[in-house]
Amino acid sequence: MNKNEIVRIILVLLFVLVFHSCKDDTEKKYTIGFSQCMMDDVWRQAMMVEMNIEVLNYENINIIVLDAEEDNQKQINQIRELMNRKVDVLIISPNEPNSITPVAVEAYRAGIPTIIADRKINSDEYTAYVGGDSYQIGKMAGEHASSLLPDHATILEIWGTKTTSPAIERHQGFIDGLDPSKNFNIISIEGKWRREIARDETEKLTDYENIDLVYAHNDVMAIGAREAISQRDSTLISKIKIMGVDGAFGKDAGLEAVADGRLDASFLYPTGGDELIKVAMQILTGQPVEKQHVLEGTRIIDKSTAQTLLLQSEQLINYQRKIEQQRKNLDAIINEFSVLRHSLSLILLLTGLLFLFSIYIFYINRKIKRRNNQLRLKNEEIEHQKQQLIILNEKIKEVNDQKVRFFMNVSHEVRTPLTLIVSPLEKWIKNTQDPALLADLTRMKKNTDRLTRLINQLLDFQKIENDKTELNISNKDIVSFTATIKSLFDELAETKNIDYSFVSDQPSALLWFDVDKMEKILVNLLSNAFKFTHDNGIIKVVINCHDEKISISVSDNGQGISKDKQPLVFNRLYTDSIDNKPGTGIGLHLTQEFVKMHGGKITVESDPNKKTIFTIEIPTGRHHLPKYSITEERDEILEPDTELIVDPEKTREITSKKYNYTVLIVEDDQGIREYLSEELSENFQILTAENGLEALQVMEKQTNITLVLSDVLMPWMNGFELCKKIKASPELSDIPVILLTALGEVDQRMYGIAEGADDYIRKPFNIDYVKIKIIRLLEERRRMQRKFMQTMQTGGIPIIETDKEIEDSDKIFMSRFISQLETSYGNTNISVEKLSEELNISRVHLYRKIKEISGLTPVDYLRNFRLSKAVELLDKRRSSVSEVAYQTGFSSPAYFSKCFKDVFNMTPSEYMEKK
Ligand code: FRU
Repeated sequence: MNKNEIVRIILVLLFVLVFHSCKDDTEKKYTIGFSQCMMDDVWRQAMMVEMNIEVLNYENINIIVLDAEEDNQKQINQIRELMNRKVDVLIISPNEPNSITPVAVEAYRAGIPTIIADRKINSDEYTAYVGGDSYQIGKMAGEHASSLLPDHATILEIWGTKTTSPAIERHQGFIDGLDPSKNFNIISIEGKWRREIARDETEKLTDYENIDLVYAHNDVMAIGAREAISQRDSTLISKIKIMGVDGAFGKDAGLEAVADGRLDASFLYPTGGDELIKVAMQILTGQPVEKQHVLEGTRIIDKSTAQTLLLQSEQLINYQRKIEQQRKNLDAIINEFSVLRHSLSLILLLTGLLFLFSIYIFYINRKIKRRNNQLRLKNEEIEHQKQQLIILNEKIKEVNDQKVRFFMNVSHEVRTPLTLIVSPLEKWIKNTQDPALLADLTRMKKNTDRLTRLINQLLDFQKIENDKTELNISNKDIVSFTATIKSLFDELAETKNIDYSFVSDQPSALLWFDVDKMEKILVNLLSNAFKFTHDNGIIKVVINCHDEKISISVSDNGQGISKDKQPLVFNRLYTDSIDNKPGTGIGLHLTQEFVKMHGGKITVESDPNKKTIFTIEIPTGRHHLPKYSITEERDEILEPDTELIVDPEKTREITSKKYNYTVLIVEDDQGIREYLSEELSENFQILTAENGLEALQVMEKQTNITLVLSDVLMPWMNGFELCKKIKASPELSDIPVILLTALGEVDQRMYGIAEGADDYIRKPFNIDYVKIKIIRLLEERRRMQRKFMQTMQTGGIPIIETDKEIEDSDKIFMSRFISQLETSYGNTNISVEKLSEELNISRVHLYRKIKEISGLTPVDYLRNFRLSKAVELLDKRRSSVSEVAYQTGFSSPAYFSKCFKDVFNMTPSEYMEKK
């Protein structure tokens, strides 16, 4: 069963219900048309009363009564009107038979059941006749008169309209009823059924004395005659007997007149009002109907009967009133019932609808359930597929991660041997005198550099692909930064005789950027420019600072890029197949990714062999940089490896000397360890360890270690952990640590610093650079310590970076720091950690702040502070060296002596002796 079928069934049922509820209301109503010859007399009014009482017995009768007012033509018209109105039964009480007969016959022939009432017509073409027996009445009156009157008495007969059937019959009956032997004298006048006419006609008579009896064809005419007689001679009234016909009830009607003695007698002529309705209903309900209904009950009414009848009639009228009242009540009840019935129908209808609706809902519900089930199954299937996809995806991810790990490991692995190649190469390049060998070595060095850059790019590319790259932004002068990067290529420009220039429209401009990534961006653009520009060409670096962005462009007049290739150059792995220059196609892609990370954009315009210009635009401010991309806002404390470019003469001078320092090399790779050991032993005493753990053991035994040079990634204990341990140990914390980081990442380096490392060296390293870094660090340290002591001795706050403008806020910070040292320097266990807690700043922040302001690490600063206090105590000569050592927080007199000697080049005892 579909939805349409259900709707159709519901509609049909509804129709049946509605039809059923209306059925009772459509029960057939009958209309009875009644054409009355006249209506303004009491007998006919009584007739109507009887009719109405009878009608009360039926619910479905509607009566239309038309009054012809004794006008034949009017009656004809009215009968036609009733015919047209298609009455169900037509009752005609004809005025005069001659005039009305044709139209009555016409109605009958038209098929309308026709009842002739009271008066007759001149035809038997009608359905039924209902009326009293006027002849019999007349006869009864005649017989009664005979019994009352002597022979030869005079009778005044007052006729109804002479052409009407009852008048003729009542006369004939009367004549036939009279005793012929008494030879009555009869005077006739025509009263035309009317009281006034009868009175007038009586008045016209000249002689009343002879009259013994008045016989009028109806009561009202008898009353009229009496009035005329009594008016003329009231004494006559008692002598003359007056009789009428009808015996009707009502005001001034026959019954009343007989009862009050105005008439001597009346003869009951029944109106037949009730019988007319009964016969009509018989016809309408299809019952057999007798044609002639001659009304019975004709009799004489004298005074006593009149009074009884009057009472009865009054009762009848009362009954009628009551019945009417009840009828009204009944109607009201019926109305209420009808309302209730309709309400019930409505309730039934609604119940039916509700029932059908419930069926429909049930059906829909079942359908939904079925559909839901299907959906659930489908969902389960999808969920299953999804799970499989997740598993598959995880597998793919795992394989991919393995590949990436493998790739990263290989890249790292490649970088270590590269280090071992680069450093000896550089040494050879520096020392060789053979021009042919130098050319080869230089080419080798160039390609090794390219390989290093390539490895770095591959690692960056991999990280970008894995979304693991983060920004480490700092606010720096982009102009000087660019100038530094630009200068890395000065030498190359010179070699190729390239007109290489740098212009900026501002001397300096602060920009939030990631130093490492910006370096890569600029190095990549410059490398490309140098790669594709012929000797004697032009390369320009231009900075333009606008309000909201800074643009850096690198232009050249080299080979360039054709128009159709320009949109592709930033694509991942794009390489120009026609171009025979080597390239992986990731350099510019990486550059673009790095620029995008800064919220900037990179564009290229190129007119091959004329001008090619790459422009990056970075917005100023930092709102465009997503928060999550900022690992820490800080100043870069590490110098880029531009220190490599130092005066070769000076380098040679520094690296050729022997220093009284002991360097502990910590490196797990045997090749690098041996190489470093061999190289550095030219300048320092060397100790070695294979990992952090071993290094700590060495340091426990060897107290003369001046510096630790450690790799980061090592088994058992890595470089960071080692550094942390050293800096946490009161005996070792003053030994500077330099980390060798193969990862080449700023954040790794920062991590090293945060753990207290004094510096870092990026792999692959240049051995001279390593040497210089060590020497500079130690020399600088010594210089600063001396300066520190001097400052302390003159009572000032030791701030050694003299060329730096110290801000007020920094001075306040230093005072806080020193007053903290004042209270805690005697405590052997005080550490940088504790100091930072006391000052309510992070360890990293404290390190940065102290290093920035004083040039010393917090550990060095504390140790020097203790030494300065020790000197004060020694000067007072009240305590022994051991006591001074403990009083100033040194863990042992031996360690105190070592530190003292490092700074003052003499032991505390020697110092005391000297004094
Ligand atoms: C009333 C009347 C009655 C009489 C009948 C005869 O109109 O005159 O008094 O009995 O008509 O048709």
